[in-house]
Amino acid sequence: MEKLEIALLGEPVLRQIALPIDDVTSTDIQQLAQTMLFTLDGSNGVGLAAPQIFESKRIMVVASKPTPRYPYAPTMPATVMINPEFMALSDDMVKDWEGCLSIPSIRALVPRYHLIRVSYMDLTGQRLEVDFEGFIARVFQHEYDHLNGLVYLDRVDSNRDIISEAMFLKLIANDN
Ligand code: NI
Repeated sequence: MEKLEIALLGEPVLRQIALPIDDVTSTDIQQLAQTMLFTLDGSNGVGLAAPQIFESKRIMVVASKPTPRYPYAPTMPATVMINPEFMALSDDMVKDWEGCLSIPSIRALVPRYHLIRVSYMDLTGQRLEVDFEGFIARVFQHEYDHLNGLVYLDRVDSNRDIISEAMFLKLIANDN
């Protein structure tokens, strides 16, 4: 399978509202999911949304694991989420660092809900409900934003919360 080109900030597809998927078990959607898993696996990312590979559809992958880009990430199996929804279970918001494959070389502090209840369809079309907190809740909210034409830079409190990836890696090295 060929790793797909990642849409970079400035591509109109990243600013579109992605369309709901009504044929979850179709070959097209199953193949799209496999392509997304493959593309994410070959990157150091922890999540990917279909608009990032030029498919304006409501499907995303959350795949938290420690990588050079996210050395402190918890491990969870790569999970395909179709037509996802979520609600915050508390008003608590936490600021932490995010990056995005579509916005290379940049990191920023982004406020996100700490605890959320997520609902999504899996690849069989079954709707599942699960609670996420902390880093995984953050990844979910980041990818979910991509389905609504938003990127994490839209969420920062101040431009001063944006730094270069090289500086981020220095900060992380000093923390550990
Ligand atoms: Ni992203």
